[in-house]
Amino acid sequence: MKKFDFFWMKRWSLIEFFIGAYKVKKFVEVGTFNADIGKRILKEKTIKLDFYLMIDKDIKKLCYDLQKDHPEVKIIKALSSIAANELDDGSMDLIFIDGDHTYEGCKSDIVLYTPKLKKGGWMLIHDVHKGGGGAFPGVERSVKELWGDDYYFIPDESPNSARGIAFKQF
Ligand SMILES: C[S@@+](CC[C@H](N)C(=O)[O-])C[C@H]1O[C@@H](n2cnc3c(N)ncnc32)[C@H](O)[C@@H]1O
Repeated sequence: MKKFDFFWMKRWSLIEFFIGAYKVKKFVEVGTFNADIGKRILKEKTIKLDFYLMIDKDIKKLCYDLQKDHPEVKIIKALSSIAANELDDGSMDLIFIDGDHTYEGCKSDIVLYTPKLKKGGWMLIHDVHKGGGGAFPGVERSVKELWGDDYYFIPDESPNSARGIAFKQF
């Protein structure tokens, strides 16, 4: 596992960093729940996305509310495995995977969404527990199986938390 410059960061702050640092225009969030990330990043005046795709099998009202003020927000209410078919290969700058946290579900999302990234695009995986423990051991297992040690990790709950975000550039 590789070291990144940051010690720890909340997930929306890391996403804001990537959007700014890598000039992200097309962002996909797989598993949006109550749009906590969208609510935060779209408030930032410096962030100007062309396309923010929210994918969830159960889209909450908060996501639709956000879309009213932000036409760049697109929504697909479907299983992530189905929604992946709607995206062109090589089209996205940043993909945040935070949907099905089982081993099979997370692994399938990584496999299906990786080809959707542009060259140089980044994939971020939430709820990776370093050392395989925690509530979602299958998330780290799938990351390790697919990425080996070739990824970055930072905690996102607190500086010493084992739970965090794994990310890799393609
Ligand atoms: C942990 S929440 C997402 C939290 C959100 N990304 C955030 O940072 O605030 C997980 C979400 O994934 C959705 N989900 C779970 N399995 C899914 C699947 N196979 N396809 C699409 N959405 C799924 C759930 O409905 C839930 O809203």
